[in-house]
Amino acid sequence: METKPKIYITRKIPQAGIDLLSEKYDVEVNPNDRVLSREELLSAVKSADGVLCLLTDKIDAEFYDAAPKLRGVANYAVGYDNIDVPEASRRGIPVSNTPGVLTDATAEMAWTLLFSVARRVIESDGLMRSGNWGGWGPLQFIGGDVSGKTLGVVGTGRIGTAMALKSTGFNMPVLYTDVVENKVLDDKCNARKVDFDTLLAESDFVSIHVPLMDSTRHLFNAETFKKMKNTAYLINTSRGPVINEADLVEALKKDEIAGAGLDVYENEPKMVPGLAECVNTVLTPHTASATEDARTNMALKAARNLSAMIEGTTPPDCVNSEIL
Ligand code: GLV
Ligand code: GLV
Repeated sequence: METKPKIYITRKIPQAGIDLLSEKYDVEVNPNDRVLSREELLSAVKSADGVLCLLTDKIDAEFYDAAPKLRGVANYAVGYDNIDVPEASRRGIPVSNTPGVLTDATAEMAWTLLFSVARRVIESDGLMRSGNWGGWGPLQFIGGDVSGKTLGVVGTGRIGTAMALKSTGFNMPVLYTDVVENKVLDDKCNARKVDFDTLLAESDFVSIHVPLMDSTRHLFNAETFKKMKNTAYLINTSRGPVINEADLVEALKKDEIAGAGLDVYENEPKMVPGLAECVNTVLTPHTASATEDARTNMALKAARNLSAMIEGTTPPDCVNSEIL
């Protein structure tokens, strides 16, 4: 009897993706809704032809050694800093991500954090629930203005571009940094490409949309916070280590910046001591892509990519396509 290729999925994802792979392959899913321990992960992929993994799985040389039959790795995320791609390439293993389908969801979360921190929504909500609200007051919960203020977008890939484009309803001048000129932004929202220090000095809101790389690790640190306006807010929906989180806590405590809206953290699931006590923050648990459509389409996309790798055809979202 012909045996079907084996697929291992490292944690339960939306069913549509599991179903798609189950049509053709022998699919096994981590039965527990939690991240696998290192030992569990390495032992689970022993006979896998393909692995659908998450941003919480470290995919490195040791992992590839543990999966000698591996023909492809599909990451259930657009960011793939959890994967040693050069090492996969050396071994001829294609790797894919899920671009495009979570662009709006993530951009919307950046805006959610922006408004929530500027308008002190979480603090206000806490007061209402405490039962201690004494009634309307002229000086209660005064926050930051949004309309007409300057938005600084750091990194204008798909998500940074979408985030910036959504600002047009609020008449915000847009500044951005990127390695390349962004035609869409230049045309559609009269954006200005500036150097990083200019963006820091002139922006009222700074929203981070760069991938995590050596060059972006701790891009935001004690020095950069000093260059920002002390009325400015920092928003991060990219990857936690782009910010030096201990330095951020200091900057928030010293009122060097007005506040921060964060969806990602330097050492997830932990937060640096002191961050939870900063009232001028809004903190969400890496849920920027957590919408019905985005998560379902990420599952389908990852499944289609993995399927192509197993079939030996070109995966639509291969990040090391030079090896194909
Ligand atoms: C989520 O963080 C992603 O990279 O898709
Ligand atoms: C990710 O999709 C990005 O290009 O921002």
